[in-house]
Amino acid sequence: MKDAKKLNIARSLELFEQAKQLIPGGVLGARRPSDFIEGEYPIFLECGKGCRLTDVDGNEYIDFLCGYGPIILGYREEEVDEAVMKQIRDKGFCFTLTQRYQNHLAKKLSELVPSSEMSIFLKTGSDATTASIRIARAYTNRIKVMRCGYHGWHDWCVEMKGGVPEKFYEDVHEFRYNNLQQLEELMANYGGQTAAVIMTPFGHPNHQKMEEPQTGFLEGVREIATKYGAVLIFDEVRTNFRLSMGGAQKLYGVTPDLSVLGKSMANGYAISAVSGKTEIMMAAAQKLFISSTFFPNSDGYVAALKTIEILERENVIDNIWEKGNRFLKKVRDIISKYNVGAELSGVAPMFFITFKRDKADTHRARRDDFYTQLIRRGIFLHPHHHGYICYRHTDQDLDSAAKAIDEALAYVSEKHPTK
Ligand SMILES: Cc1ncc(COP(=O)(O)O)c(C=O)c1O
Repeated sequence: MKDAKKLNIARSLELFEQAKQLIPGGVLGARRPSDFIEGEYPIFLECGKGCRLTDVDGNEYIDFLCGYGPIILGYREEEVDEAVMKQIRDKGFCFTLTQRYQNHLAKKLSELVPSSEMSIFLKTGSDATTASIRIARAYTNRIKVMRCGYHGWHDWCVEMKGGVPEKFYEDVHEFRYNNLQQLEELMANYGGQTAAVIMTPFGHPNHQKMEEPQTGFLEGVREIATKYGAVLIFDEVRTNFRLSMGGAQKLYGVTPDLSVLGKSMANGYAISAVSGKTEIMMAAAQKLFISSTFFPNSDGYVAALKTIEILERENVIDNIWEKGNRFLKKVRDIISKYNVGAELSGVAPMFFITFKRDKADTHRARRDDFYTQLIRRGIFLHPHHHGYICYRHTDQDLDSAAKAIDEALAYVSEKHPTK
């Protein structure tokens, strides 16, 4: 059993102490140290290139978080950055009126994303999921929402309810991924009042195993939404331009009424979209005010157009599936050697290694030791969040990750053997 040497993260810790005086909690939201393994993971990064990150102490990692999803090509992808810098240098990006790129991007989306006929563009995934709900409510003149998955931090869907009046989410009901019966029951009670069914078309519930749709699940949801006249919204913020060029809806062959897009559309630049059927989308023009000083800034549009161009030109998504499948097969074989409850879930572009719950709670210690051993070996995977594979991961990088996974599991199985 080889215990890898603990990383020196002194500078990260020092900056964190300073941050605690300046930023509530030091770091906001999902990036706070307590979401990883405290004392083991770095807190501040210095730079990144391709699939690699370097922290402020100079430790280098092969990264599988990809900026929590937006990095589909790689960090500092020159062609995308150049296109944005050229735009900023030659024309500018923040103006009194809109530049023409919104038309180009909306047209591109309607070519690629099955649900897409018209689009509106915003900055973040949360902006766009919230806008999609408002559009659905305006279109149907109904209030209730059925939801499944993480949809961001806004009042109607945030998991931590502090500071949110109950009235903002009391009409929002949750159902579990792959549990059609639960949705059927909810809709039998509330279908006539339901404006929208919003869900992630591929199952990636927070902190849990990932799930592909069981046969008939997405088709069943589609049917139920149609039956009750509710707008079906696919939250493809993680899956657009990752599972396929047309998202999970294209991969699984079920088309929603509206789609929410974000993250990997622009390889890291801030832009998101609601894209869907004309009749429904027109509510955004006729009944709603959706506006921000920054929504028309063209850096995100230019980055998205360039990212999509590269994705198409270089068959990036096929490349990710091919090498990702080779990698996942290796990982599956490695996992099967060790009887420690490790489980691999997901698909080639998005995967997660979790540990089966046991009564003695050993799974927590196994998980923490496993991810500690990985980060010490320079593999940045997250104990509570799935990983992604991007274009710039090479087979060699993936082999290095597989080797580290093997070593980390060997460590875990000696330290916490199954009795
Ligand atoms: C499926 C999904 N929807 C919405 C969001 C919210 O996006 P953002 O963090 O850009 O606001 C996320 C973010 O992780 C997400 O994964």
